[in-house]
Amino acid sequence: MSHSGWNAKDYKKFDEDRAGEYAVIANEVFAPIYPVIARQILERCGVESGLCIDVGCGPANLSLALAKLTSLTFCAMDFSPDILRFAQANIDREELAARIATVVGDVHRMPVPDGVAALIISRGSMRFWRNRPAAFREMWRVLEPGGKGYVGGGLGSSRLAEEINREMIKRGADWQNKPKTQARKNDTAEWREIMAKAGFSRYEIIRDDSGSWVYFEKEG
Ligand SMILES: C[S@@+](CC[C@H](N)C(=O)[O-])C[C@H]1O[C@@H](n2cnc3c(N)ncnc32)[C@H](O)[C@@H]1O
Repeated sequence: MSHSGWNAKDYKKFDEDRAGEYAVIANEVFAPIYPVIARQILERCGVESGLCIDVGCGPANLSLALAKLTSLTFCAMDFSPDILRFAQANIDREELAARIATVVGDVHRMPVPDGVAALIISRGSMRFWRNRPAAFREMWRVLEPGGKGYVGGGLGSSRLAEEINREMIKRGADWQNKPKTQARKNDTAEWREIMAKAGFSRYEIIRDDSGSWVYFEKEG
């Protein structure tokens, strides 16, 4: 059985090999989580039209799932051109190229003008960001007045998380997705520190079965 190491601590760059490995996991193992998370985003944010930027989109599975529920158009952005080739293949296969454009970009300095996005989403990318408060300020810059953000990580539900844990372990991954209670508390404290440093006063931390997320709105 091949060892799946994408979750290892030294996994910093989604270069060609790692990008391919992650795309297989996203398409084969994580596949059921994206429609669930897309529904959670829609319920929380209620944004169904305009531009959505999916930051650290990877193979664009979340953009694709949300595109199927809404009439949003998407900028599927990632700093890895290697992973965007897998994103483009997924988008083409689903025949959604007219609504989802892939863009090479770093969350710390997005190649996007001020105030253009109705929605910003990001799953599973933040832990790789060099300066999280700066990244949140940058997301704020590109949001339009009244725009919403939904950023964090999760596997949809605890049932899906358990299924995925089992499958990942079967595939030889060094993987454990259940943080201890203390880790959860630290996680909330960490969110608060990031948001304070970023200068956000109005935001909501979502820490439940769906994972660990922050929801924010830019005043209209
Ligand atoms: C674990 S993958 C998650 C991909 C996708 N969002 C998903 O849920 O399947 C993390 C992604 O974040 C991207 N990433 C990490 N740091 C980034 C940054 N500073 N700017 C943009 N993308 C970044 C990586 O290249 C990678 O594709």
